Amino acid sequence: MEHAAKRYDFRDKRSAYAELAADLAALLAGERDAIANAANTSALIFDALPEINWAGFYFLKGSELVVGPFQGKPACVRIALGRGVCGTAANERTTIVVADVHAFPGHIACDSASQSEIVVPLIAADRLLGVLDLDSPRRARFDELDARGLERIARIFSASTDLSDALAQ
Ligand code: SME
Repeated sequence: MEHAAKRYDFRDKRSAYAELAADLAALLAGERDAIANAANTSALIFDALPEINWAGFYFLKGSELVVGPFQGKPACVRIALGRGVCGTAANERTTIVVADVHAFPGHIACDSASQSEIVVPLIAADRLLGVLDLDSPRRARFDELDARGLERIARIFSASTDLSDALAQ
């Protein structure tokens, strides 16, 4: 399908995320390939959201998170569960919003421009699949509305995608 580039007005985060969620569902409709859907989801997010410098996926393989499709600077490839913001969100199976990455113990710096971060776990049928990670060059860029909006995006991605190949050891 075609995706026409468009601007989202994030001054109203609720309606911008609602529009983004509808566009993501349309973008992924009819396709379940993990790499294709993760690539398109990260591209849509990176194109849509203001003030972000990294957006993408880590998938759980064994006891490690391994980087998947993303937009932004090259990132660290493997993160052990419990390490960094990603490994902590995965372990706790909860969204973590970090206002200042320099104040987060064990934060893993991939791009020195990153000042704040949000990590949303990907869970389907009670199984941890990985995380969706976004970084921003602005401190305290992400709030509760971003958390709820990106959790919705993560649910659409997980429900639309067959991750069994992506999670193979
Ligand atoms: N900052 C993350 C590592 C991944 S990069 O930001 C892309 C962390 O602490 O887990």
